[in-house]
Amino acid sequence: MKLIVLNLKLNFTLSEMVVYKKRLDEFVTGDPEVVVCPQYPYLSLFNDGNYNLGAQNVSEYTKGAFTGEVSAKDLASLDVDYVIVGHSERRTVFQETDQNFIPKIINTLNNNMTPIYCIGENKEERNRKKTLSVIQKQLATVLNRVALENISKIVIAYEPIWAIGSGKTPTISEIDEVITFIKNFVLNNYKENIKVIYGGSVNDYNISTLNKLDNCDGFIIGSSSLNINEAQLIVKTTKLKK
Ligand code: PGA
Repeated sequence: MKLIVLNLKLNFTLSEMVVYKKRLDEFVTGDPEVVVCPQYPYLSLFNDGNYNLGAQNVSEYTKGAFTGEVSAKDLASLDVDYVIVGHSERRTVFQETDQNFIPKIINTLNNNMTPIYCIGENKEERNRKKTLSVIQKQLATVLNRVALENISKIVIAYEPIWAIGSGKTPTISEIDEVITFIKNFVLNNYKENIKVIYGGSVNDYNISTLNKLDNCDGFIIGSSSLNINEAQLIVKTTKLKK
């Protein structure tokens, strides 16, 4: 079954979130698996639907004098199932690096939640044909620090930075090449199979084409998740293919 992650980012107010949830409850059935990722304060709103709950971030710290942080344990106590780690906005806007993502991923796993680890190249790296080496470094830096028995619990989101929020996507064969590379890299180095989803300007127009990618286990949706009709169409289209 495919995985659809709705990354709502920093957008809706409480009252808008309530309306959004009502519409979501009308069409999310559990197939495909939908993960809703609202801002932290709204997590508990989504506790009772046919979807799973995702956080957009987590602290690298576990407890103590870290004003403004939210720990993996806090998220687990709110019944969060998934945690997005390493999103490109964390990398570019907040200057976080792979070194920050190691404890975030380990803390998430230690609290029995699934990390969605986002990786991807920027435009310049793609133009210089560095995509696969960038991806390999982002993967190895983090996965080398994760206990082997936990590797297969991680979901990798391939999100080219230049495709996020831009309306542009790589071609199907370019996405296929990177996803195949990620799966083979993990299989060869850690002897595990791993789920890989794609993100970056997925919308109601391109979803039927993207959905043809056999080795892609699902999608992470930003802008298009904010329009509930678009989100519905994406979920419906993805359901057509097992
Ligand atoms: P987008 O965002 O769908 O707006 O490109 C995807 C993401 O940031 O995960």
